[in-house]
Amino acid sequence: MGLFRIVAIIFVFLCKTLAENKHPTILASILVRNKAHTLPYFLSNFESLNYPKDRISLWIRSDHNADNSLEIIRQWISSVKDKYHSINTEFIEDGVQYPDEQGPAHWTNERFDNIINLRETALNYARRLWADYLLTIDCDVFLTNPDTLNYLVSKNMTVIAPLLRSEGLYSNFWYGMTDDYYYQRTDEYTPVLYRENLGCFSVPMVHTCVLVNLRRKESDYLTYDPSKIEDFDGPHDDIIAFAISANKSGVSLNVCNELKFGYLTVPLEQNDHLGLDYAQMTNIKLEVLNEMNELYVSDLLKKFARDSPRKDTLGFDKIFMINLLRRPERRRRMRKCFDELGLEVDVIDAVDGKLLNESFLESIRFMPEFSDPYHKRPMKLGEIGCFMSHYNLWNEIVKERYETALILEDDIKFEPFFRHKVQNLMSEVRGIRNWDLVYFGRKRLQENDEPWVEGSNYLVHAGYSYWTLGYALSLRGARKLLQGDPLTRLVPVDEYLPILFDKHPMDSWKGYYPSRDLVAFSAAPLLVYPTHYTGETGYVSDTEDSVVVPEAVKTAREDL
Ligand SMILES: *[C@@H]1O[C@H](CO)[C@@H](O)[C@H](O)[C@H]1NC(C)=O
Ligand SMILES: *[C@@H]1O[C@H](CO)[C@@H](O)[C@H](O)[C@H]1NC(C)=O
Ligand SMILES: *[C@@H]1O[C@H](CO)[C@@H](O)[C@H](O)[C@H]1NC(C)=O
Repeated sequence: MGLFRIVAIIFVFLCKTLAENKHPTILASILVRNKAHTLPYFLSNFESLNYPKDRISLWIRSDHNADNSLEIIRQWISSVKDKYHSINTEFIEDGVQYPDEQGPAHWTNERFDNIINLRETALNYARRLWADYLLTIDCDVFLTNPDTLNYLVSKNMTVIAPLLRSEGLYSNFWYGMTDDYYYQRTDEYTPVLYRENLGCFSVPMVHTCVLVNLRRKESDYLTYDPSKIEDFDGPHDDIIAFAISANKSGVSLNVCNELKFGYLTVPLEQNDHLGLDYAQMTNIKLEVLNEMNELYVSDLLKKFARDSPRKDTLGFDKIFMINLLRRPERRRRMRKCFDELGLEVDVIDAVDGKLLNESFLESIRFMPEFSDPYHKRPMKLGEIGCFMSHYNLWNEIVKERYETALILEDDIKFEPFFRHKVQNLMSEVRGIRNWDLVYFGRKRLQENDEPWVEGSNYLVHAGYSYWTLGYALSLRGARKLLQGDPLTRLVPVDEYLPILFDKHPMDSWKGYYPSRDLVAFSAAPLLVYPTHYTGETGYVSDTEDSVVVPEAVKTAREDL
C-alpha cells in the first residue's frame, strides 16, 4: 500500500469522524415518589445506558416520600452530576401524604393534578431548553438493555416507547382503547407482548417510558393536561390526555419490541399492600437473572438495594440443590435466585458421571429391558451420575430423618410469586395423609387428564412424566425410593419415579419393580421450569449430551 493511500485513508477517516453528527440532546424527566425499593435498580440501569451522558439533561422531581427515596436520589446525583449535561431538581421534603390520601396506591384528584402539572412542566421545560427529545421515564422501569436510548432515537419517530414486560400481561402500551378512553383488550395485544410479532406498532397508548421527538412540528400540540385539549370529555389523567392529544394532532404512538429492553412493575391498586411491590420486584429480578445471569446494581447504590428477606426453608426440613462442580455459573445464578427468594438451600455437589470409576460402574446393574445390544452401557454416564445424585440425597434424607425435603436441580427458573405459591401448595399437601412425592417441575408426557386431588386447588395426581427439576419428598417417599433397590436394575431417574408410582407405560419395565406404591402428585400449575428447552440457544444438558443410550429410549427421549 502506497504512502499516499495510507494518508488518504487516514484523511477520509478523520473527515468522517469530524463530520459525524453529535447525538441529539435529550431531557429525561424522572418523577420519584416512595420508590426506595426500585430506585437502586432503576438508577443503575439508567446510568449504564450507553447514550452519551453529556447529551442528556435530567429533570427530577420528588415529593411526599415516606421512605428514603430522596436520600438515594441525592447520593446518586452527587456521584453523576459532572457526567450529565445538567441536572434540574426540586424536592419537597415535608408531608408524607397528600390530603385525603389513603395509602401509597390511592390516587386522589389532587395527586392527579400534581402529576399532570409535573409532566406538563417537564414537557414545556424541554421545549424551552430546545432539547431535541423528551424522555419521560418512571422509576419502576428497569432498562436492562443499555442500547435502548440509541435504538429509540435511531428509529426517528415522533413518539416511541420500548416494550417493557412485567411478570403478567401488564405492559406499557395498549392495543385498544374504548370510546370512553379506557383500556380495551384486543387480539393483537399478546403477540406483540410476547414478541411473536416483531417490529414497531402504532397503538392508541404508550406510557411509563416514552421518547418524544420535539424537533417535529407536530409535537407542538402534545400535552399531558386534559384541559388543554379541545372537546375532550375523558378522564382527568396525564397519560390519557397525552394519547388523545397525540391522536388529535395526527401523531402516532409507537411501541417497539424488536429488542428486549427491560421490565416494569405493575402499579399497585388502592387496596394492595406495599409487600406486593416487593414480591413483584423479586419476580422481575429473577427474570433478569434468567436472562442475563446478572442483576446489575452500581457500587454506589448497592447499600440501598433491599436486603434479601430473612431466609428460611419454606417449612421444609431441608431444601437441596444438586449442582455439578464444573457448572459454577449455574451455581452462582441459582444462589442469586435463592437470595432473592429468601430460600435457605444446601448446595449439593452432584455426582459427575464423567468421574465415575470402573469399579463403581461394574457394581451396578442395568435393567435388562433397557439394555442396548450395541453398546457396552445402556445409560449415559451423565444419566448415571444424575441418578446417583438423587439417590444419595434420598439416603441422606432417610439417614437424617428429614420429614419433608425439597430437591431442586440447577437449571431451573421459578414461577412468579414462588414463595407464596409453595406455601399454598404445601398447606394442601400437609392435609393429605401418606403423600410421598410432589413434582414442582416436570415434563408431562401423557396429555390425557390427570385428575385433581379431591378438594384441592393446586394438586393433581401425577401421570407419566419426565424430568426431576424439582420435587418435594417425604421421609416415607425417600424410604420407598431406596427400597426399590434401583442400583440393581438401573434406569434413568425420571423413568424410575413414574415406575415407582405405577404410571410408567411399559409394563415390562415395571415388572422389574414389584413394589410400585409411591404416592405422587404434581403441582398444577407447575412451580419450576427449565431455564432452556432443548434446541433453544443456551441449552446444555449434562445428562443428555454425555455418551450412549439405547435407540428405543433415545427416540422417546429426543421428543423432550
Ligand atoms: C427522520 O424523519 C424526518 C421526517 O420524516 C426525515 O426528514 C429525516 O430525513 C429522517 N432522518 C433520518 C436520519 O432518517
Ligand atoms: C386516532 O384514533 C383513530 C381512532 O382510534 C385511529 O383510527 C387513528 O389512526 C388515530 N390516529 C393516529 C395518528 O394514530
Ligand atoms: C469408586 O467410586 C466409588 C463411588 O463413588 C467410591 O466409593 C470408591 O472408593 C471408588 N473406587 C476407587 C478405586 O477409586
